[in-house]
Amino acid sequence: MKILYVASEVTPFSKTGGLGDVSGALPAALAALGHEVKVVSPRYASVQDARLTPTGHTVELRFPFGTERGPLLSLQLAPRLELLFLEHAHYYQRPGLYGDSGGEYGDNPRRFAYLCLGALQAAQRLGFIPDIIHVNDWQTGLVPVALRRGFQDTELGRARSVLTIHNLAYQGQFGKHVMDELGLPWELFTAERGLEFYDGVNFLKGGLQFADALTTVSPTYAREIQQPEAGANLDGLLRHRQGVLTGILNGVDVDEWNPEADPHLPARYGVEDLSGKAECRRELLRRFGLADTSAPVFGIVSRLAWQKGVDLLLEVLPTALQEDIRFVAVGNGEWHYEEGLRELQRRFPDKVGAFIGFDPALSHLLEAGADFFIMPSRYEPCGLNQMYSLRYGTVPIVRATGGLADTVDGSDDGTGIVFNDFVPEALLWALGRARALYADPERLRAFQRRGMVRDFSWGASARMYERLFASLLAE
Ligand code: ADP
Ligand code: GLC
Repeated sequence: MKILYVASEVTPFSKTGGLGDVSGALPAALAALGHEVKVVSPRYASVQDARLTPTGHTVELRFPFGTERGPLLSLQLAPRLELLFLEHAHYYQRPGLYGDSGGEYGDNPRRFAYLCLGALQAAQRLGFIPDIIHVNDWQTGLVPVALRRGFQDTELGRARSVLTIHNLAYQGQFGKHVMDELGLPWELFTAERGLEFYDGVNFLKGGLQFADALTTVSPTYAREIQQPEAGANLDGLLRHRQGVLTGILNGVDVDEWNPEADPHLPARYGVEDLSGKAECRRELLRRFGLADTSAPVFGIVSRLAWQKGVDLLLEVLPTALQEDIRFVAVGNGEWHYEEGLRELQRRFPDKVGAFIGFDPALSHLLEAGADFFIMPSRYEPCGLNQMYSLRYGTVPIVRATGGLADTVDGSDDGTGIVFNDFVPEALLWALGRARALYADPERLRAFQRRGMVRDFSWGASARMYERLFASLLAE
């Protein structure tokens, strides 16, 4: 099959979270299965690579506010895998991907409309006629819309489209002036069959309406988003489209996340011999300015957002830290959570370490060096860190929601510790269970071993996407 994959971030070139990791890995896994894959993404300031070459083509899009154009760059990553970057200095050469410390960029509708239409035009320019166009989250929501309203009479119009929801809470909602601004036909401004959402424009909703198939990143989240609680006001539409909605669990990039070969670690280790993990632990404590200790080390690596339950964690940690434990955090995001972590560190300087910022190398060290990894998420479409933790022999402590429920086995001879209710007592109970497990080295080893041998590689997930694509083409 020929697959055009459109995403607003692609690891290692650009990343704010798991979407980048997925876009960096799934297209490669599909190419490895024999498909021809082209990935289109913006050329942000962070996209620097000596192998980038001009294609000689220019993307040129006419909008009511003027014509926007920019060169199309290419990077051939593997025999059947090409990355295409849309260069547009004014739109993409900025400090952040979606915004900066001042908030979201005000021209995001233009920036991501340019990505959506630019991706389709890039395919045309290269004479690449895809069978499948696979898009991700709100930033690419206008692709399925444009495919049926604008490109329907071109060769691209024959392609089948798939939209993957990585996070339903981010929808790309804007005022209705965006209809005129982008030149979207007003007939699309309806709630039933269009982009209208509470008298505004909703990019994700457009994609959900027009894509031929919908997926999300875990089976449990696929069910959850059809209910009001996690449905973010789109649950009605998702119930309406449940016949084309499936949950396909993300994989992990097992080359990047491999404790036996991880270049970010002071020592490497595998399931047969965990001694290197002890060295990573010592280095982790040292990096966070904490004295070496035999007390259990709990860690998080997280976007500091409401979704992640950082507030619940900050609420229970002062109690939990009365015991002999250590807590280390790598995260950035909302200011009040950042401040909460700093405050915790000031209160417990001998027990708590916090790095406020985005640091992939440090996140690898934390995954390897911690004994337990905490994810008390309010909701979690898939979650990758719990899978990294399992691979690194770091026992995950998770709330039973979305992909966390699908990947961590909380039974007595399972792989992690799972709690249900989003309340302090439940998280404290889970932390207590972790301490008990830590006090029983043999049981702890058994948990680690079972987690480390779980197969989370992309192969199985990529085959499920492949089957979905094939079924669409057979329709
Ligand atoms: P989400 O996409 O909702 O943030 P995921 O668990 O799917 O959650 O993916 C998060 C990814 O981002 C992981 O690879 C994680 O290690 C990484 N990450 C999050 N915050 C940081 C940070 N402050 N520094 C480095 N990596 C981070
Ligand atoms: C989103 C979700 C996260 C998921 C990631 C990749 O950012 O919040 O749970 O793992 O997308 O699909």
